[in-house]
Amino acid sequence: MKITIVGSGYVGLVTGACFSEVGIEVVCVDIDQNKINNLNKGIVPIYEPGLEAMILRNMQKGRLSFTTNLASAVKESEAVFISVGTPPDEDGSADLKYVLAVARDCGKHIDDYTLIVTKSTVPVGTSIKVKNAVQEELDKRQVKVDFDVASNPEFLKEGAAINDFLKPDRIVIGLESPRAEELMKTLYKPFTLNGHPVIFMDIVSAEMTKYAANSMLATKISFINDIANLCEIVGADINKVRKGIGSDSRIGNKFIYPGIGYGGSCFPKDVQAIIRTASEYNYDLRVLKAVEAVNNEQKLLLYNKIMQYFNNDIKGKTVVLWGLSFKPQTDDMREAPSLKIVEKLLEAGALVKAYDPIAINEAKHHFGDTISYYEDQYEALIDADCLAILTEWPEFKIPKFKIVAKLLNKPAIFDGRNIYDKEEMKELGFDYFCVGIKT
Ligand code: UGA
Repeated sequence: MKITIVGSGYVGLVTGACFSEVGIEVVCVDIDQNKINNLNKGIVPIYEPGLEAMILRNMQKGRLSFTTNLASAVKESEAVFISVGTPPDEDGSADLKYVLAVARDCGKHIDDYTLIVTKSTVPVGTSIKVKNAVQEELDKRQVKVDFDVASNPEFLKEGAAINDFLKPDRIVIGLESPRAEELMKTLYKPFTLNGHPVIFMDIVSAEMTKYAANSMLATKISFINDIANLCEIVGADINKVRKGIGSDSRIGNKFIYPGIGYGGSCFPKDVQAIIRTASEYNYDLRVLKAVEAVNNEQKLLLYNKIMQYFNNDIKGKTVVLWGLSFKPQTDDMREAPSLKIVEKLLEAGALVKAYDPIAINEAKHHFGDTISYYEDQYEALIDADCLAILTEWPEFKIPKFKIVAKLLNKPAIFDGRNIYDKEEMKELGFDYFCVGIKT
């Protein structure tokens, strides 16, 4: 079986690599010639554990290839997955021009039955627009070619995407015909052999499932952050409260870790998108509006704590940041709390030094030379006034505390991810601040 994946970004590359890993012939298409040239040399544009090795392995086996030639790829494929970007347009809603352009290209080039699957996260109702776009092109060509559309949202977590694809909690597929269902069953069979379920449904429900899933997860985070802030005020310990509530299986102990707000390319964008969709139908999604508001404030939590510690004057103070990416195991900084925190620190006249194991290059695109970058987490601390932990990279979990204390002018740590123990920090002589625990 041969398939085409259009869009060699994060989702497209992971999807293409994983389908080829189980023996399906995959052609990945992108309009960016430079990107395709690099991929053909084995240079992968994003950092994702395990991805590069998987791409190289499957290229060598001849099952995975990269091209800018969409027409020939589509002609030879039984299924085409659309995984191009949907950047927000001027008014903030998802810009579908790339998705619909691919749909039109499919309509221009397919000669036999083809299943056109939307994998990009797109507003509810998009698959129908894809269907119409394909049909319009077929009409222009005055040919009759049978095709189906389907919606197959992805639930990959950056940093764990390969594992999520190979061992999915579930695969959600929205479609309209038995033929499409058969094809999708065949494609996903290798991933479902161990009982990972495929849930078939109508297209609109599949599109909605993606937003509902991310919105629910974002809600859990804003909820726990709100409760954490209250814990701190009343003198409760969020770590204990988290364990206390998480052991109720209806609540669950996953995804209720407090922090400095959710970031990334998905939660912020998807929460905003579903609020927008609802408003288009004159429905007010009140809970999600609150989720977003709590998250925006939470991103400033550490900044506010730092300000308070220095009596609202950090002019000329040096703040060291450990971690810039929105979460560990990725260099992605989209909507990362670090963006807001750096902006506020600089505005208040502080000097910012930063260390991140992977995201420094990415950070340079955002901050340029307004902050300084270090390749060693300890070197960054020399002559600095405090340390703030923004991302819970494993290497920050048991640092050489004595060196940290010696290097800092003031032994102050602001822990945005609750990776240290309050009592231990006290014994070590640090002024320690975290989330949801009075210190
Ligand atoms: C998220 C979803 O988890 C995936 O299922 C989904 O496929 C993906 O979005 C998407 O729509 O493409 P991702 O954005 O990669 O994945 O990252 P997560 O691991 O879910 O983390 C999101 C944010 O929540 C991070 O900023 C993280 O620090 C924060 N978080 C997570 C917390 O603050 N507390 C937690 O307990 C968990």
